[in-house]
Amino acid sequence: MASSLPDVVAVVPAAGIGSRMQTECPKQYLTIGDKTILEHTIGCLTAHPAIRRIIIAISADDNWFGQLPLAADPRVQIVTGGSQRAESVMAGLLAAGDAEWALVHDAARPCLHPDDLTRLLDLTRTSRTGGILAAPVRDTMKRGEPGNDCIAHTVDRESLWHALTPQLFPLALLQACLQRALAEGATITDEASALEYCGYHPQLVSGRADNIKVTRPEDLDLAAFYLSLRR
Ligand code: CTP
Ligand code: MG
Repeated sequence: MASSLPDVVAVVPAAGIGSRMQTECPKQYLTIGDKTILEHTIGCLTAHPAIRRIIIAISADDNWFGQLPLAADPRVQIVTGGSQRAESVMAGLLAAGDAEWALVHDAARPCLHPDDLTRLLDLTRTSRTGGILAAPVRDTMKRGEPGNDCIAHTVDRESLWHALTPQLFPLALLQACLQRALAEGATITDEASALEYCGYHPQLVSGRADNIKVTRPEDLDLAAFYLSLRR
């Protein structure tokens, strides 16, 4: 029932240039099948009935977004992102109005599974701090010696996770933590790190490892393969 759905606004940072991808256009505008990565990603979110509004942060000199059918979707709003991912997210949060929860999801993660999204959104019923999708580390982990490629030691894999997105937090709490972390120059690589900086301990929600962030050229085929399995 619509009234039992949580009050969630989605914020999608899509203002990066995708330098590691080494392509002409930013990676979120590369095509898989008949859609761009950004359209696949937004499709994962709009497929869930709780996501009724999406704020996408795009670069000030983005020439691609306006050409997508997505630009005419009434659920979608555009803001101008910043030079860091955290600034792009902040721009989105500032446009979010008074929603209760903010769900932040990388534009470059088009393979989000609906079951993972549902389990993360369950936090709106069980948590006051929020949490993130994360995947347990599976390989043996090594710490390298600073300045060379020799092994310093093996890092205990127990309790080590890959932080994924979406990440879901009470909107006002995330705004406050991100604002403080940015103002104080803290290193913020995801939303959870802003909450951690302010002393909170967000929940880890175990998610699928195929929720990859398209980052390097070889990731494109992998994302295309995973998406082909979903059809
Ligand atoms: N992002 C953003 N604003 C920035 C930097 C990144 O909105 N100033 C977004 C990207 O568009 C992407 C997500 O944050 O959807 C995750 O970042 P990442 O994978 O690092 O993308 P890029 O920064 O574009 O890639 P690279 O680091 O290889 O340049
Ligand atoms: Mg980047």
